[in-house]
Amino acid sequence: MCGIVGYIGRSNAREIIVTGLERLEYRGYDSAGLTVFNDKKNTFDIFKDIGRVSILKETTKQVLSRVGIGHTRWATHGKVTALNAHPHTSSSGRFIIVHNGVIENFQQLKDQYLKLASFKSDTDTEVVAHLIEGFASYMTVENAILTTLKLLHGSYALLIVDQQDPDTIYAAKNKPPLLVGVSEDGVTITSDVLALAGVSKNYHVMEDKTFVVAKKDEVKLYNYDHEALELNWQKVNVDVTQTEKGNFDHFMLKEINEQPGVIRRIISEYFTGYKSNIDSRLLKTIKESERIYILAAGTSMHAGLIGKYFFEKLAGKPVEVHIASEFAYHMPLLVSKPFFILISQSGETADLRACLLKLKQFKYQTLTVTNVITSTLAREADFKLEIFAGPEIAVASTKAYIAQMAVLALIAYELSAKLFDIKMELAKVAQAIENFLFDPTPIKALVEKVFIKEHAFYIGRGMDYALALEGALKLKEISYIHTEGFAAGELKHGTIALIEEGTPVVAIISEEEMNMNTRSNLHEVKSRGAVSIIITMDSLKQKGDDIILDDVYPILAPLLMIVPTQMIAYFAALDRGYDIDKPRNLAKSVTVE
Ligand code: G6P
Repeated sequence: MCGIVGYIGRSNAREIIVTGLERLEYRGYDSAGLTVFNDKKNTFDIFKDIGRVSILKETTKQVLSRVGIGHTRWATHGKVTALNAHPHTSSSGRFIIVHNGVIENFQQLKDQYLKLASFKSDTDTEVVAHLIEGFASYMTVENAILTTLKLLHGSYALLIVDQQDPDTIYAAKNKPPLLVGVSEDGVTITSDVLALAGVSKNYHVMEDKTFVVAKKDEVKLYNYDHEALELNWQKVNVDVTQTEKGNFDHFMLKEINEQPGVIRRIISEYFTGYKSNIDSRLLKTIKESERIYILAAGTSMHAGLIGKYFFEKLAGKPVEVHIASEFAYHMPLLVSKPFFILISQSGETADLRACLLKLKQFKYQTLTVTNVITSTLAREADFKLEIFAGPEIAVASTKAYIAQMAVLALIAYELSAKLFDIKMELAKVAQAIENFLFDPTPIKALVEKVFIKEHAFYIGRGMDYALALEGALKLKEISYIHTEGFAAGELKHGTIALIEEGTPVVAIISEEEMNMNTRSNLHEVKSRGAVSIIITMDSLKQKGDDIILDDVYPILAPLLMIVPTQMIAYFAALDRGYDIDKPRNLAKSVTVE
């Protein structure tokens, strides 16, 4: 939620900030802004407006500077306006800040310390700049910032510059990520390692409640008591080409097409020959637990729903799946020996972090399954497993979802009697996805003909129901068609009232046992005017079925069956002319609760 980049060094700060913000736009794209020091005027200039980073790039084309901080916003407090865009300033304009997160006690701080101040924006952020300026009138800047930080409740990654000292950037964080990258050239501080690709050689991942003072050749790290801490450097290892679209029109299409490669990569990362390298301690801990609790949000939660089937069907291990934001504050009654799996593409989702902090209090054992192995959730769990999807840029998750399912399948398989060759069967899934994606034109034509209504439904039973939820989410988030995923047998118990002439109802059928039942449910809606679309596998097909995929090993079918739903969403959004990679109101990494 919101991306931030700051740079101080010998290169053009504006260039590094704008390029970095472009790569961080997945975190929010309501408005963008930056401040850079203008040597001629001897002051920091601020540029900010609503809209994308591309606008900021254009308006700051001529700007040259050696130091600056920038921001791309996902609005939480205050509407999407130029005044609410970051950076924000203190009352005299001396301190300029960018912020990712939410200052929960901002109103209380205003009432207590800033009664006379006048605020230019409706944000929670501005209060931070005002407080720093107030304290800096009678203490050093570092102490003024530390005093302010100790008053803040909530989540923040903050960059601060001072008009009176253009040789320093200050940074602090609690909850959202913040990384300090270094090279001979200078220091870059940012929300995601993607912004460091091609800029920094090494980086330090800031822990919560730590404070950085950066100069062009020096980084100092402190705790909030101003005691010096050691920096832990690791190599920046990101391939910049992965952040580019290549020959594809959209990142989403590129990422859908990368899915077979992702599955193959997972096989090669997790196996040496036929031996899996999943940590045996992890497997033992899960085996010894009484029940697995999967916690996640959004698409990752949908991967968890499929994971439940993997663990229960393959390994006979009972599983409950919970929405992270619910679990965090309404923990259900747990068995005495639970094991927790947190699934998160970004590894930064605030709702999940709230869960993890609670679980740690109880000393429960946890595993994070994530795409970002250096992320907060990966670092703080007892175990971590990487999904190896590579950077996913489109806000609508596709390849990360498949990769999450694949890794969950591998864990469940390792806990099972191993009655099939999972390496071979996953390879077949990869091939089947490739076969399906070879010619997507029939899907395009189908979508243009059928998805012309405001409402749509996905239905399925068992694993296909879990897929229906994800298929519906994908369609609504990028095409804005109101879509619901339903258990096929449940539709008739009320929601069937919404079926009208022409309402599209997509049925996913991958389980033989329920093939006929789901088809009967389709008849029920068809006789009320619905247009039905069937996605199924070769061995289950019937005359007239719309999308027929190759047969794959049944329990792994979700990894294949979801792909047509991704393409349906893609073509529906394309047909409507929407911004496929950056749908309205959304952000990919949700670092506020
Ligand atoms: C946001 C994104 C979703 C994602 C969810 C969970 O809502 O828009 O695509 O599934 O967050 O994110 P995570 O990084 O924890 O998987």
